[in-house]
Amino acid sequence: MPNLLDTFELKDLKLKNRIVMPPMCQYSVEAKDGIPNDWHYTHYTSRAVGGTGLIIIEMTDVEPDGRITDYDLGIWSDEHVPAFKRIIESCQSYGAKVGIQIAHAGRKAEDAEVPVSSSALQFSDRYNQPRELTTEEVKEMVGKFESAFARAVAAGVDTIEIHGAHGYLIQQFQSPLTNKRTDQYGEDLALFGVEVIQAARRVMPESMPLILRLSAVEYAEGGYNIEDSVKLAQRYKEAGVDIIHVSSGGESTSGPASAGPGYQLDLAHAIRRDVQIPTIAVGRLEDPELADQAIRDGKADLAAIGRGMLRSPYWANEASIQLGGEPLTPKQYERGYGLRK
Ligand SMILES: Cc1cc2nc3c(=O)[nH]c(=O)nc-3n(C[C@H](O)[C@H](O)[C@H](O)COP(=O)(O)O)c2cc1C
Repeated sequence: MPNLLDTFELKDLKLKNRIVMPPMCQYSVEAKDGIPNDWHYTHYTSRAVGGTGLIIIEMTDVEPDGRITDYDLGIWSDEHVPAFKRIIESCQSYGAKVGIQIAHAGRKAEDAEVPVSSSALQFSDRYNQPRELTTEEVKEMVGKFESAFARAVAAGVDTIEIHGAHGYLIQQFQSPLTNKRTDQYGEDLALFGVEVIQAARRVMPESMPLILRLSAVEYAEGGYNIEDSVKLAQRYKEAGVDIIHVSSGGESTSGPASAGPGYQLDLAHAIRRDVQIPTIAVGRLEDPELADQAIRDGKADLAAIGRGMLRSPYWANEASIQLGGEPLTPKQYERGYGLRK
């Protein structure tokens, strides 16, 4: 079995280690135009300098009202592409590979006057009342995702992650709690997700792997469970997904009973084993021994470290040293490790 510091290869994606920075919204687009700025450039470049194998840029939305807040990233026009390209090329120059999470917040778009969703069901009374997308609008939404995927490819990504988790639009369609539609998108809860995946495959190079982030369980009465999400993941795999990034929850205001170290590991393992697909595990894996053991045990192929990487941009480098590996920092910092006279 490989370990955390081993390389990973799938199609044309070659990672120098199995450490992933998962998408984490920075809510830092002060201009409210969805375009990344110097904060994002510094934030992502630092994690590349810190030795991270794969950086997944935060939730980036396909239209203005698809953002959680007006301070989030978007990629709804060609004018957005150069700023992403600058960040991606910078990270790649330090040996990291880069993905981007493409998303729509649906009914969880906090600053949208009338958010859209699979059905007209409010998330909570703190959120605006959404309206149900018409069947025609659902098809148009697939087109908006497709344009966003094409722009991500133009910006030079190594992979794309579709956000099918945390109660955002795709999960709003795939959950029996939030999808009460009577058209084809209600008869088949996976259909919207499948069409979004097919749209990605139309514009991505065949050799570029596609990741989908899935909430594997819903912590709510009447929601789907791990047996259902294994079936969902199977459908998504058949539609063209290569890797599942396994998270949980988000469709209701409740969460897991306890969210301690490795709390979502068994979910990543179940999807990997039952769907026979590579998985990224996430959720309190910041102890390097735990992340390493997860890979060695075959629970996941890659390990994502979220809040741990907010605390330290050099988490990957520190983990490598702790696990007995080489420092992962660039040559300018080698003296810090006694590697250059
Ligand atoms: C500040 C912050 C922003 C986040 N934004 C996103 C996001 O844009 N997309 C997403 O799928 N998950 C998001 N998450 C969830 C993380 O990707 C990750 O799944 C979660 O923090 C659990 O991993 P951890 O215990 O290593 O932090 C966010 C988490 C944090 C702390």
